[in-house]
Amino acid sequence: MKITVAGTGYVGLVTGVVFADLGNEVLCVDIDPDKVDKINKGNSPIYEPGLDELLQRNLEERRLHATTDLAGAVRQSEVVFITVGTPPTPTGEPDLKYVDEVARTIGASLNGYKIIVNKSTVPVGTGDRVRRIIEQHRVEPHEFDVVSNPEFLREGSAVHDTLFPDRIVIGADNPRAAMKIVEIYAPLERPMLITNLPTAEIIKYASNTFLALKISFINAIADLCERTGADVVQVAKAMGYDTRIGSAFLQAGLGFGGSCFPKDVRAFAHSVQRYDLDATLYEKILAINDARPVQFVERIAQRLGGLAGRTVGLLGLAFKPNTDDIREARSLEIIRLLLEQGAVVRAYDPVAMPHVQAMYPQITYCRNAYEVAEGADALALITEWNEFKQLNFERIKALMRQPNLFDGRNLYDPQRLQKLGFYYYGVGRANGNELTKPEDAEGI
Ligand code: UGA
Repeated sequence: MKITVAGTGYVGLVTGVVFADLGNEVLCVDIDPDKVDKINKGNSPIYEPGLDELLQRNLEERRLHATTDLAGAVRQSEVVFITVGTPPTPTGEPDLKYVDEVARTIGASLNGYKIIVNKSTVPVGTGDRVRRIIEQHRVEPHEFDVVSNPEFLREGSAVHDTLFPDRIVIGADNPRAAMKIVEIYAPLERPMLITNLPTAEIIKYASNTFLALKISFINAIADLCERTGADVVQVAKAMGYDTRIGSAFLQAGLGFGGSCFPKDVRAFAHSVQRYDLDATLYEKILAINDARPVQFVERIAQRLGGLAGRTVGLLGLAFKPNTDDIREARSLEIIRLLLEQGAVVRAYDPVAMPHVQAMYPQITYCRNAYEVAEGADALALITEWNEFKQLNFERIKALMRQPNLFDGRNLYDPQRLQKLGFYYYGVGRANGNELTKPEDAEGI
């Protein structure tokens, strides 16, 4: 099948490459000529395990080509996937200008029946909007269908997630269009659901919002654990054994960052309000998440008796391991708060340092975890990269000014570190602190 994929970000490029690998002829379109050039040379502009190899193979076999010419690509294709960005506007609503722009070009280039598939994360109703734009810009009266096919891939495992998705959702009002998209995905042999357009659009936001809810929920439980001497890691583990709950996304810590969850929950709250419904639940998910870095820095400040002149070392800066992405990374807010309170900050991340350096040139960037520990009053784990799992803590302790360890991802064994002479703080892990009892607990 001849397919155009408009937009070569994470979703677009990975989707395009995988479709090519399934035997389709794919045109990947981007407005950025440098990106297009890189792709045609076999160098992926984004880092994803396995992507370069897959890209090179499909370029060599001439199943994939990148271009800046969207109109030309649309004219040659039966199916056009829209995979452009929908960045948040200052109010938190997604900006649909790139989706609109692609839809206008598709309309102007229609030269026969085509299926337009929206894969970008967009609010419910966008399918209809795309349909209207194409109708308005259509020069000749060719038929077309609009389909919603949301993407569920994660950064860092994008190729794997695209090849082995838990489910494929196809929202279409015309069964003929739905069947054509089923045909593209059939070789993956994964569960497929065919729905109407708004259902598919809501599935994407509902899924991301629910995962974010799980994270904020366990973080709220972590706060109660800290006050009562309970251990959130054990609470989450026991909850997770209940198959109705499941253990995934119940890791308490610094909360969620990245280009999806914060943006999507905000966008969903806006969508819901537009239909005159109560968005309090979604706003609370964000409020709990926003409080995480503040609370974490407060714990460090309490321990050190204030942060002015204190040296704090940060392990990890990326929004999660195995990516250099720092969009809405918790590290950024933590650095801001530490600097605001007069701390001296040292940091190390295996890949994300250059991006953070551009925003915070005033902190010290180190070559490894041990260099971060040198002269530090506190060491804080922000991103749970594999290389931080087996650190030599005897060596770290000897390098630090004071052995205070703040574990923002509950990666370490508290007892082991305490035995080594560290003060250890884990999120929601009792931590041997003075417990804050409710007022009416006296005399019970
Ligand atoms: C997320 C979803 O997992 C994908 O299914 C979805 O397709 C994607 O958004 C998207 O909409 O494009 P991603 O943002 O790549 O993927 O990252 P996740 O692995 O889901 O992690 C998100 C954040 O949650 C990270 O900051 C992570 O540290 C945090 N997290 C995750 C926790 O704090 N606790 C957990 O238990 C799990």
